[in-house]
This record gives sequence, structure tokens and C-alpha cells, in this order.
Amino acid sequence: MNQEQIISNTKLFVKDTLKDAEGGHDWFHILRVYNNAKNILSNENADKFVVELASLLHDIADSKFHGGDEEIGPKKAKAFLETQAVVPEVIDHVVKIINNVSYKGGHNQTDFQSIELDIVQDADRLDAIGAIGVARTFNFGGFKNNPIYDPNIPANPNQSKKEYKKSNSPTINHFYEKLLLLKDKMNTKTAKAIATQRHDFMENFLDQFYKEWNGEL
Ligand code: ADP
Ligand code: NI
Repeated sequence: MNQEQIISNTKLFVKDTLKDAEGGHDWFHILRVYNNAKNILSNENADKFVVELASLLHDIADSKFHGGDEEIGPKKAKAFLETQAVVPEVIDHVVKIINNVSYKGGHNQTDFQSIELDIVQDADRLDAIGAIGVARTFNFGGFKNNPIYDPNIPANPNQSKKEYKKSNSPTINHFYEKLLLLKDKMNTKTAKAIATQRHDFMENFLDQFYKEWNGEL
């Protein structure tokens, strides 16, 4: 099988596996991350096949939706790639990327680093910010039945009064806990440039949100 066929089979596998996924972590999220990764790749010297496979497989079984099990995603990806007769070195690299791509980095015990990981991580983080980031975040909050905003709960997590469990805190808080921090975490120049623009959009969104909330607009 050539690489083009393997990529095409991987797309079909991921699309089918994620057919019932939450809207922010569905096939279209994967497709956007894959396209972001290809965009970044055009300015970097990296293994294209590894980046493409890892971006397609990075959320194949997100632990958030699998009872916190962080092993299931990498295992599923490995088993699939074995059916495609992908060489072991590539499988190993893709699995390491999946293990290390998450923002939380909970399983970063290996200190693994590669330009391919940097690219997939940037591609995933870009999809968490900007207009898409806003949409995904409110979709996730709705999925969890969380409040949109609560003026009695400071949005800055350092001042949080713990009125809500973190996983049920108002969706606006997620901007301060994560989304507004992502711009400074980008690895590649290409992603940094895109992130700056998407970050400004979120700042404007929040300004407008508070003005409307307070009846000032
Ligand atoms: P990663 O896979 O990089 O660790 P997550 O899967 O936790 O990131 O987050 C992906 C997206 O899901 C976030 O960018 C956000 O849109 C949404 N999300 C995750 N956690 C929350 C939350 N507590 N409140 C609102 N949205 C969330
Ligand atoms: Ni993702």
C-alpha cells in the first residue's frame, strides 16, 4: 500500500470511529487540524506522512469521553496502523505524538520531542482558539450542561470561589483557564502568526460579551 492509500484509509477509519462524537471533537475537528497541520508543514522541514497520520489519529479516543483512560487512544491508533502495514518506526512516532499532544500534557513522562509533534500540537491548539474556538467551547459547555457565565464567579481562575466543580464551571471561565493562554504556547512561526489574529478575535468577543451582558451595547 502506498502512503496516499494509507492516508485515505485512515480518513475513512477516523470518520467512522467518530461518527457519534461531541461536535467539538468530531470528524470536522480532525479535518481542520489536518488542514492546519498541512498549512504549517509547508513552512517546516518535517516528515509529512507522520504529521498527516498523527493529526488524523490524535483524538481517536479522547480520555475525556472514555472515563479518563489515556491508553485507549494510542492503542486504537496503533492497532489500526498495524492493519495498514505501516512500518514500526512510523507507528511508534505517531503513537508518541498522540500521547504528548494534549494541552494538559498529563502523560508527558517521556519528555518526547519532535518537529512533527510540534506541528500537530500547534494544529490542534489553533482549532481551540478564534471563532472556531468560541464555537467549540460553548458547544462543550452545553454538552456538559454548564452555565454560560456567572457574574458572581470571577472568570479569573486565581480568584475562583470554588462554587462550581472545575468541570462544571461557567464556559466563559475556560477562556481564562486555557484559550487565552494558547497564543504564547505555539511552537512554530506559522502557528504563532495565525494565533495572534485568532487571539485578538477572542479578546474582542469577550469585550462585546460583557458589554452586552451589562446592557451597555
Ligand atoms: P486537549 O485535547 O488539547 O487537551 P481538550 O480536548 O481538553 O484539549 O479541549 C479541546 C476543546 O474542548 C477546548 O478547546 C474547548 O473548546 C473544549 N473544552 C474542553 N474543556 C472545556 C471546558 N471545561 N469548558 C468548555 N470547553 C471545554
Ligand atoms: Ni484535537
